[in-house]
Amino acid sequence: MDMEPKGPMLGLESSCDETAAALLAPDGRVLAEALLSQVAEHARFGGVVPEVAARAHLHHMPRLAARVFAEAGITPSELGGVAATSGPGLIGGLIVGASLGKGLALAHGLPFVAVNHLEAHALTPRLPGLLPEAPAFPYLLLLLSGGHCQCVAVEGLGRYRRLGSTLDDAVGEAFDKSAKLLGLPWPGGPHLERLAASGDPKRIPLPRPMLGRPGCDFSFSGLKTAVAQAVGKLTDEAGKADIAAAFQASVSAVMADRARNALGMMPGATALVVSGGVAANGGVREALRGVAERAGLPLIAPPIRLCTDNAVMVAWAGIERLRAGLTDPVDHAPRPRWPLAELSPAGERIS
Ligand code: KG4
Ligand code: ZN
Repeated sequence: MDMEPKGPMLGLESSCDETAAALLAPDGRVLAEALLSQVAEHARFGGVVPEVAARAHLHHMPRLAARVFAEAGITPSELGGVAATSGPGLIGGLIVGASLGKGLALAHGLPFVAVNHLEAHALTPRLPGLLPEAPAFPYLLLLLSGGHCQCVAVEGLGRYRRLGSTLDDAVGEAFDKSAKLLGLPWPGGPHLERLAASGDPKRIPLPRPMLGRPGCDFSFSGLKTAVAQAVGKLTDEAGKADIAAAFQASVSAVMADRARNALGMMPGATALVVSGGVAANGGVREALRGVAERAGLPLIAPPIRLCTDNAVMVAWAGIERLRAGLTDPVDHAPRPRWPLAELSPAGERIS
């Protein structure tokens, strides 16, 4: 059953350390958006503390939701539906966003969509107005964030095939851990990139794990150990920039190699899409652009604010699913673990 949303979609995101709400018109216009990063609350612990995150979501989410309604000048009864990230992620935060979403849907008789956070990242490049032309299915998605690191064949709405993923740390996690070893603040990715700009990537070479291996899995824990050893041998502060540069060069080379193999595993791909916080990294982007160019495909990187966690992408996934008649009951239970492949229609699960 196809359903056109009768009004704007409310999107709620609370799966990790961003509390976010957005109102999105069915034509893709962002009517209002509010996002609160909890970086300051977690920084002194050097990473996301689940209990701190859950409490912060609980504290901020109702206020952020009220703010987007006020900004857009609409009331919940005018909505076309409610979409809330319902997994995968930290369960405390998921419960906060999903409960608010289900409560609003129930109170106002609105359709509810339990959004898979990974699907929201995967569908972002289809947001109308974002690109001159939305990529056609199938396309290759590289999801590169602090919590996720995978190559996904996006074959259609709800049809995803994971081609490869990390065997240990996510790439953003590797950036953060290596940055910490270099004495940089958390989250370290952007700091490491800045430091790398003044370093020599060749002076202290680092390993390039998985490079040249078949498939498109990743592994970053060995690289992080190599960074620790290199830092231990340093005799001058300036060497830190060289290690940062070597680290970024290593990750970029590995990324290009894995992306090339992933494209080889999905003939017919129309584009290479990169998303997640690490998509902000210039070195990684440049390496991926080279791969896409050689394959004759466009490299699509949504603007950073839509690459990192946000509620606009959740609302958009909600609109896409609602249009396809894929709504969820209000007793849908949030799922800390929720692989993308499980969204595929029964009988079509490939990975
Ligand atoms: O997608 P995201 O905002 O949140 C989740 O992990 O869900 O990604 C955050 C990650 C962090 O690990 C951060 O260090 C990394 O993305 N990151 C970067 C850069 N900007 C953010 N890594 C490398 N270079 C950057 N410029
Ligand atoms: Zn994310």
